[in-house]
Amino acid sequence: MMLHLPAVLSKQQVAQCREVLDAAQWVDGNTNSSAQSAQATRNQQLPEGSTAARAIGDAIQDALGRNARFFSAALPLKVFPPLFNRYSRGDGVGTHVDNAMRQLRGTNFRIRSDLSATLFLAEPDTYDGGELCIEDTYGMHRAKLPAGDLVLYPASSPHRLSPVTRGVRVASFFWIESMVRDDGRRATLFQLDHDVQTLSAQRGLNDATVVSLTGIYHNLLRRWADA
Ligand code: NI
Repeated sequence: MMLHLPAVLSKQQVAQCREVLDAAQWVDGNTNSSAQSAQATRNQQLPEGSTAARAIGDAIQDALGRNARFFSAALPLKVFPPLFNRYSRGDGVGTHVDNAMRQLRGTNFRIRSDLSATLFLAEPDTYDGGELCIEDTYGMHRAKLPAGDLVLYPASSPHRLSPVTRGVRVASFFWIESMVRDDGRRATLFQLDHDVQTLSAQRGLNDATVVSLTGIYHNLLRRWADA
């Protein structure tokens, strides 16, 4: 399941992030890539653990913590501290699948990447190209979203970034280990949660069917989730 989450960051928060990012020291992006993607990667990244990356990464994690739809869709157990990349004219990434395991350098913090996320930090009209192209069983999906919006997709999906032909594409990217590792189960829980909320808004929380379906949601979560 691929999901677009609008306005995870407000335009004001995006502007604050960009002020810090645009003044930061960027390095060649290959240092952070898997062997597979490094062959086809051209971009710049903020060094992992740099002051700027930490400050903005914390703000993004706070915003995600307040986002009910993110929680419902990702059922996050662990979120990798957000990383940042910047693509200028001619930069792009060839088709690859992200590494399954990610260790935070110099720490014991390790996650299994169930979901990949990209948070857009440049408005789409400020650059040409730079589309995130994601393959799933239903074909190719393209994401080039407003600044502050996030796209969430299974980390198992082959994806690429079409070359930037004008301007600069700035984004944050990170991975999520979900309490529910299977994408199909996670998608079912997301749909059920959405439907229960729709029904409870119509009938009230004490409606017998709403109570029963809420119980089913939690019992499925109990069967499928690790905490
Ligand atoms: Ni990737």
